[in-house]
Amino acid sequence: MNNLVFPILKLLADGRFHSGEDIARQFSVTRASVWNAIQAAESLGIEIFSVRGRGYRLPQAVQLLEKDAVQQALGSNALPQAQAFTLQVLDEIDSTNRYLMQQAGQGAPHASVVAALLQTQGRGRRGRSWQAALGAGLTFSLLWRFQLGAAALSGLSLAVGLALVRTLHQFGLQSARLKWPNDVLIGERKLAGILIELQGDMEGPSAAVIGIGLNLQLPPATRARIDQLVTDIASHLPVTINPNELLGQLLLQLSSVLQQFEQQGFAGLGAEWQRHHAYHLQQVRLLFPDGREQHGEVQGIADDGVLLVATAQGVQRFSSGEISLRGAH
Ligand code: BTN
Repeated sequence: MNNLVFPILKLLADGRFHSGEDIARQFSVTRASVWNAIQAAESLGIEIFSVRGRGYRLPQAVQLLEKDAVQQALGSNALPQAQAFTLQVLDEIDSTNRYLMQQAGQGAPHASVVAALLQTQGRGRRGRSWQAALGAGLTFSLLWRFQLGAAALSGLSLAVGLALVRTLHQFGLQSARLKWPNDVLIGERKLAGILIELQGDMEGPSAAVIGIGLNLQLPPATRARIDQLVTDIASHLPVTINPNELLGQLLLQLSSVLQQFEQQGFAGLGAEWQRHHAYHLQQVRLLFPDGREQHGEVQGIADDGVLLVATAQGVQRFSSGEISLRGAH
């Protein structure tokens, strides 16, 4: 990896032109080194405009995460949990979940957070990938160690979704809703996704790596690579959200929800979750990985996070499957 890439990108984040000469002077390197770094950035999929006589610029200004600013957003709330996070903001990583799973195996502390400016091989649920571009979204993972065993963690991903929706509402995105089990939608379009990977025993203790991807401002090229309906915060809010404040608030909400989950399981969060469910009392189709499907009306969420659906055979409990509205009637 070329060491100049991210220092230069942080300079270009203002969206203005910077000449090769100025950049070279700033970092005490040659213009050829700057050019090489720009090539290396482009090979990471980052779009950079280069105009003879003016220099280089990003297609638009982006606000990049900064560790100190996230820490400040956490600390300004003067909550005891604010101090508890161990924060890392990496320039580039294949997957924050993969990295934190590895760190967890090597003893990383409870409430470690790894965020990335650029995640190149983000993992999604069901073997999908998660597409992100520089400054286009939040991509981070949080390690939470439980005394509970993995067997007691059903409903955890729903609890995490609730923390996301609470935070988005706090920032003015009242239209953000949940889709069982743990997508965040606006209308029918996906705004954020959650991938939880577990370590440890079924009986306990266990550790969860909670990965969250949240779209802030998707460039058209990234949108084009995503094979489902997606949206971003910028399409729904007139003001730009500061990603550092967003991550800080989200971590505080996660901490509060996860502590409640530890004490009461999902049961204590179920009523609030259901209020935000986009498909409550709707006719849906449930699609299963083996190709089977079930039709019915969503009745609610059980205390363990299972979806309750009134089918032709009566109310059934579902712990897996993907909800679809298409062809449900
Ligand atoms: C989904 O498919 O909806 C889940 C997407 C989860 C993506 C996030 S981005 C940060 C973290 N690291 C990953 O590799 N995946 C998760």
